[in-house]
Amino acid sequence: MPQNTLHTISTMKDNGDKISMLTSYDATFTHNINEAGVDMILVGDSLGMVLQGLDTTLPVSIDDLIYHTRCVKAGNQQCLIMSDMPFMTYRTPEEAMTNAAALMQAGAQIVKLEGGMWLKGTVAKLYEQGIPVCAHLGLTPQAINKLGGYRVQGRTPEQAQTMIDEAVALAAAGASMILLECVPAAVGKAVTEAVDVPVIGIGAGPDTDAQVLVLHDMLGLTPGKKTRFVKNFMAQEDDIQGALKAYADEVRNQTFPAPEHCFE
Ligand code: KIV
Repeated sequence: MPQNTLHTISTMKDNGDKISMLTSYDATFTHNINEAGVDMILVGDSLGMVLQGLDTTLPVSIDDLIYHTRCVKAGNQQCLIMSDMPFMTYRTPEEAMTNAAALMQAGAQIVKLEGGMWLKGTVAKLYEQGIPVCAHLGLTPQAINKLGGYRVQGRTPEQAQTMIDEAVALAAAGASMILLECVPAAVGKAVTEAVDVPVIGIGAGPDTDAQVLVLHDMLGLTPGKKTRFVKNFMAQEDDIQGALKAYADEVRNQTFPAPEHCFE
């Protein structure tokens, strides 16, 4: 199988093919995720929670992301690799360029930044320098202290319109993908229809072009109360490989996410 590129993923959107993505942080799981037929991997700063046992993603460093991106790259065959830029590593376009370049050199094909309109200049600068960007909107965990908790975003018509405007402006500035976290399904649909670039959803309903889940969540490994948008694929399969493949298949045939995984 050839390596997936931005072009592969955009063509899937244009053809109406649903796109699957999982987080991964090491070579072995990356190999298994590839074997299962998943299209994209996110080396997420969620590694702060699932690998390092932290409460938030805030202490995760650029060196952590560089190390885990290298590990993922080593085990990868065809998935497109996206890496997160951690908290406070993109305060200025210059700082963003230095840190994004390090992630690209470690094996990322695209970097993800959390934020709205204020990121327009940074996205444009990175794009100009050949670094594709995914803009993360909705629930942005790096802003957890400002948001006041892990809550559904974009519930009022005004908030929903702001999110649509941000997605349109960031795509116009050069963002190659948008990621929407924890928003009503109608907002997921509206944003997906408003932009030409692929929209990835996590708790954003069935109408986004792509779906992503945190690996440890969909394998039922994360302790504590399950978030509404997470499905435990190990509950229906005999082994990890079966669960990864069921996820890829269910995204592709649009049985995941089901209504019980969505917010109205
Ligand atoms: O870090 C991460 O895993 C993420 C997902 C929750 C989308 O950003």
